[in-house]
Amino acid sequence: MKRIVLVTGANSGIGLALCERLLATDSEIHLCLACRNTQRAMAARSALLHSHPEADISLLKVDVGDMNSILEAAKEIKKRKVVRMFATGEGLLTQEDHVNVDGLQKVFATNVFGHFILIKELEPLLCCPSMTSQLIWTSSSNAHKSAFSLDDYQHSQGTESYSSSKYASDLLSLALNRQYNRRGLYSSVTCPGLVMTNLTYGILPSFFWTLIMPIMFLIRFFTNSFTLTPYNGAEALVWLYKQNPESLDPRAKYHSCTSGRGNNYVKPKKMDLREDTAEAFYKQLLELEHKLRQKVGVTEEANK
Ligand SMILES: NC(=O)c1ccc[n+]([C@@H]2O[C@H](COP(=O)([O-])OP(=O)(O)OC[C@H]3O[C@@H](n4cnc5c(N)ncnc54)[C@H](OP(=O)(O)O)[C@@H]3O)[C@@H](O)[C@H]2O)c1
Repeated sequence: MKRIVLVTGANSGIGLALCERLLATDSEIHLCLACRNTQRAMAARSALLHSHPEADISLLKVDVGDMNSILEAAKEIKKRKVVRMFATGEGLLTQEDHVNVDGLQKVFATNVFGHFILIKELEPLLCCPSMTSQLIWTSSSNAHKSAFSLDDYQHSQGTESYSSSKYASDLLSLALNRQYNRRGLYSSVTCPGLVMTNLTYGILPSFFWTLIMPIMFLIRFFTNSFTLTPYNGAEALVWLYKQNPESLDPRAKYHSCTSGRGNNYVKPKKMDLREDTAEAFYKQLLELEHKLRQKVGVTEEANK
């Protein structure tokens, strides 16, 4: 049976490189590019079809930071079947944040809660008795425990929204495994390393990165986390795709690594997570979900 793979953030950077690599790995997949901008999504699809003319690629319009957009997209996906889902959407390294249309902190909504709602909406598809499903999060080495607090899990008070949201996605992955493994759904976390994408060009202009590129290639002989290209950064995502999800460690973050000689490999590292914090956070997400569903008038039961 054809595997169906949904990739958020598929139109650029690591998400686009991941799509390219998935098509090269498995020509039998149906790839669904989940993007908020139709033009950019169509450009990505054309580029992918250029290198893989036979590929089966569909588009799905979704802004993962907007509750209504997620609910609409979920309705659309339910008509298809999704068994693998990669979350590579968003990432604000600037740590700048504000409240979005749903009254949520934007970074939290986009990096964590939007994907959580999407998973909840797709539960009937993802928890299918006859097969296992896989969720793969693109986290970061910037996921700091010190940036996250259960009392302010949206990080409305602090100045480290990005770090907090990435730590929150690590916690959520752990909690999802506890909740869903027995129903055939498995969640894993990756770190792409330092990659040159729109995200990094948002912190410092691209000419600066180009200028220091030779130095970064040299540093790669001493640290393996300077993956630098989106292709290399997608290594752990592609590696996880090829594994049996049941064999993976739910407490590990799978890091994409590149050696000084340019060889890619994956290194699992234990995450600094507490089971009780993950459970408490999961409960808070369920409460927030309930509140927001009441606000937009779509109940959990409507999804059953
Ligand atoms: N680059 C790094 O060094 C690095 C390091 C650690 C972790 N990461 C993580 O890697 C992931 C991918 O980032 P990247 O480096 O590849 O950056 P990127 O090139 O900027 O890609 C981000 C993608 O997310 C999409 N996106 C942003 N907001 C969205 C929204 N509200 N709804 C739907 N899609 C949205 C963007 O679409 P648009 O084109 O419409 O904006 C884009 O396709 C992020 O989660 C990031 O935190 C990156």
